[in-house]
Amino acid sequence: TSPSLNFAVAERPDRASDADRDAVLASPGFGQHFTDHMALATWRKGEGWGDPRVTAYGPLQLDPSAAVLHYAQEIFEGMKAYRHEDGSVWTFRPEANAARFSRSAHRLALPALDEADFLESLRALVRTDVDWVPATGGEESLYLRPFMFASESFLGVRPANEVTYCVIASPAGAYFSGGLKPVSLWISEHYSRAGVGGTGAAKCGGNYASSLAAQVEAAENGCDQSVFLDSVEQKYIEELGGMNVFLVYKDGRIVTPELSGSILEGVTRSSILELAKDLDLTPEERRITLEEWRAGAESGEITEAFACGTAAVITPVGRMVSTEGEFRTGPEGEGGPVATKIRETLLAIQTGRAEDTRGWLT
Ligand code: COI
Repeated sequence: TSPSLNFAVAERPDRASDADRDAVLASPGFGQHFTDHMALATWRKGEGWGDPRVTAYGPLQLDPSAAVLHYAQEIFEGMKAYRHEDGSVWTFRPEANAARFSRSAHRLALPALDEADFLESLRALVRTDVDWVPATGGEESLYLRPFMFASESFLGVRPANEVTYCVIASPAGAYFSGGLKPVSLWISEHYSRAGVGGTGAAKCGGNYASSLAAQVEAAENGCDQSVFLDSVEQKYIEELGGMNVFLVYKDGRIVTPELSGSILEGVTRSSILELAKDLDLTPEERRITLEEWRAGAESGEITEAFACGTAAVITPVGRMVSTEGEFRTGPEGEGGPVATKIRETLLAIQTGRAEDTRGWLT
């Protein structure tokens, strides 16, 4: 379907100077610098979506009683635009993000945004700020962050009658400053990320807020990230809070927790499941107990583990730590061969160094 909203450029701010922009692009980090523009639209009950525009990046004016600040009615997405050798700019499976954004909107009782309009807003912003897409090379990209929130000024608890949709963009290098170094995971026993019937499968800010106390606990115990178990039996592996997780078996299986309703369906996760066969790996989605992970890592049946997501792509897991002790789950110092191969395969498609046989690039 064709878009119904026209995100036309409504305001041309003073652009960052070429020198300032080049300085940022030389060392972008993650999520620290933003482009000159943002895309916006507003939804009102009874009227639907209106006022689509691309305007100067800058503070939003929000009433202190805006519902999102009180009840967290908010969702977001994340994807990357890569510059290819010939200068063209491509996003990776944005339709998958559009579809997930629709599912998240439904779960948070936010209005539906037509998937064609979601894609159009990305196109409009990237076209306007195309100079901010880093040059081809490593894994640098322009990270796109669409989000939607309850902007109505009202303290009653009900779905908001006024909602804002916004897209911002941020040049991005590696997500973890340590590079491809394996991370250590703290096994969270006190906290769950999401429960049965909750919002775990939706990409909403609240899920990330609820992961932070576990993240603090991880740091206090010398770990980089935390891993969450299911909230009912505290037995099955779920995810990291910001990334999905895979175990690599000696016999060529790569196993990831099945979508339980409380796990986020990552676009990187599903892409790896689809790519597995090309790499002579057998993908499996099923429940995995922490005990299976520990026993498999100790016996050598599980040779590697890695986390995956849009921001960091693939991050090897080296060590698992809990109150009961710890175990190694992959080589020290660097990622294992399977994680490294999957990472290279994905990045090659995204950056245009390998053929896009599945039509994943837009
Ligand atoms: C991702 O892997 O892209 C994430 O979801 C992390 C992001 C919230 C920074």
